[in-house]
Amino acid sequence: MAKNNLLTERKAFQFLKENAENIPHIAEIFDKQPARGKDYIIQTEGITLDISKQRVNDDSIKLLCDLYYESNVPEHIKMLFNGSLVNKSEDRAALHTQLRVPKEKQKESYNIVNDQLDHMELIVNQIHNGTWRGFSGKRITDVVNLGVGGSDLGPLMVCHALREYSLPSVGSLNVHFASTIDGSQLFGLLKDLKPETTVFLIASKSFTTIDTLSNANTARSWLLSVCPNKELMLRCHFIGISSSAEKMSEWGIVEKNQLSIWDWVGGRYSLWSSVGLSIALALGMPLFRELLKGAHSLDEHYRTSPPEKNIPVMMALIGIWNVNILNIKAQAILPYDGRLKYFPSYLTQLEMESNGKSVTQDGEPIDYSTCPILWGEVGANAQHAFYQLLHQGTQSVAADFILAAKRYDTNQDDSHKNSLVAQHELNISNCLAQSRVLAFGNYAIGNNSNPFRNYPGNQPSSTLVLPKLDAFTLGSLIACYEHKVFTQAVIWGINPFDQWGVELGKQVASQLKCLFSEDNEPNKAGALDSSTLALASMIQDFRKE
Ligand code: F6P
Repeated sequence: MAKNNLLTERKAFQFLKENAENIPHIAEIFDKQPARGKDYIIQTEGITLDISKQRVNDDSIKLLCDLYYESNVPEHIKMLFNGSLVNKSEDRAALHTQLRVPKEKQKESYNIVNDQLDHMELIVNQIHNGTWRGFSGKRITDVVNLGVGGSDLGPLMVCHALREYSLPSVGSLNVHFASTIDGSQLFGLLKDLKPETTVFLIASKSFTTIDTLSNANTARSWLLSVCPNKELMLRCHFIGISSSAEKMSEWGIVEKNQLSIWDWVGGRYSLWSSVGLSIALALGMPLFRELLKGAHSLDEHYRTSPPEKNIPVMMALIGIWNVNILNIKAQAILPYDGRLKYFPSYLTQLEMESNGKSVTQDGEPIDYSTCPILWGEVGANAQHAFYQLLHQGTQSVAADFILAAKRYDTNQDDSHKNSLVAQHELNISNCLAQSRVLAFGNYAIGNNSNPFRNYPGNQPSSTLVLPKLDAFTLGSLIACYEHKVFTQAVIWGINPFDQWGVELGKQVASQLKCLFSEDNEPNKAGALDSSTLALASMIQDFRKE
């Protein structure tokens, strides 16, 4: 395969820079193209993308598509889907798309995927129908997912987003999440949970992550204090999800309670695998399968659509345009839906851990920006928090608005339902108002000479509209961002599937542990800087008081 030169050396990139010089204020772009609102829309099953409020014209779109071809994206997409080693630094494929291929289309060599789904389903059914019992013979009432990063953020986000669809088979089972290394989330949960009716899922691809293992060890001690029969306790209360069966066994997970993932599933791309067990338990297995279906539908759209009609590709190209041509280095994620509360934090890992890189796949330094700083919040709440900066601050910020058109069941004529529908209408108006004011500023309301009421506008945004938020459309939405990230990585020439940047911190944390343990042995930490030493000694003094 032809090796890409650096982004800034590509012909299309030079043309894009020239094109940008002729791009006026968004309000003027609309004056020139009055039908833009309809023309700059792309649709696929379950998702509509509106890019009309981006600072692009027809020429920019054409040149961005040229960049897509010049960067050999189609070839890379084929490599992603056919299992080539797209994660070069770890010598691995990245086949999360394989996890959502429907059973009847699955290649024989990936039957392991169906086997794991069947194993998941067996566990889910046993817990739901009460054949899985705790050590004292009681039915399970609570499940706690212990994981961090990709083994936490995706499942947490999906469970929260879809919990109102939870199937009757789930009954009154509660699913909780604990990730923090300080144990505070687990501490909060253990106060209210009963050991005899609680099952813990230890979700860790590597099964070496100290955050997760320290929570798991605390949970094991908690259970042991009431069930000294260790073998029985482990069999009834712990399920492991990892790529290392050996490490799960060493920790004490019995074989029938072990679910596998494989090295070709990246942590932040793993919610589709058995890491999604918490999702299947919280919502029901059919909904988990529907989530996979939505993602697969988007995979097919991504694999087969030309760039100008391809939603993730267009999101990626617009992102490159904003970061590398318009110099906009901040990206806000603004879902106008309380159910998507955890979507922004899930995306920060997906985008920033994947594309926060500064060397090429071959380790060569690059001289242009990659992933922007990404953050977000439920849009209507963020209006009362950080939108001031978006409207009148000094930074250019790009935004993604996400909205579900339909919400609440209007067939019922009870008054609170009608009131909720009215709330949804208010929510939609707010979403559209904000993208309008960000784009047009004063133009939206007429000029204002009061400097405190000056709205410059020209802040670009895209709007993603789902007909309704359900398992299918959420699956598509997540897959959309995954493929956006991959497309950008190809264009930037970086590896979106490794995360070497987080390793050094882990190493140094383990080196510093000796400063705080009971047998305080500061010499073991080696030579340290004066700030770290002073902080450590001050903290120890406080702890002794
Ligand atoms: O430290 C970063 C990271 O490796 C993420 O990429 C991953 O999602 C998270 O830690 C958890 O890893 P694991 O599932 O192996 O415990």
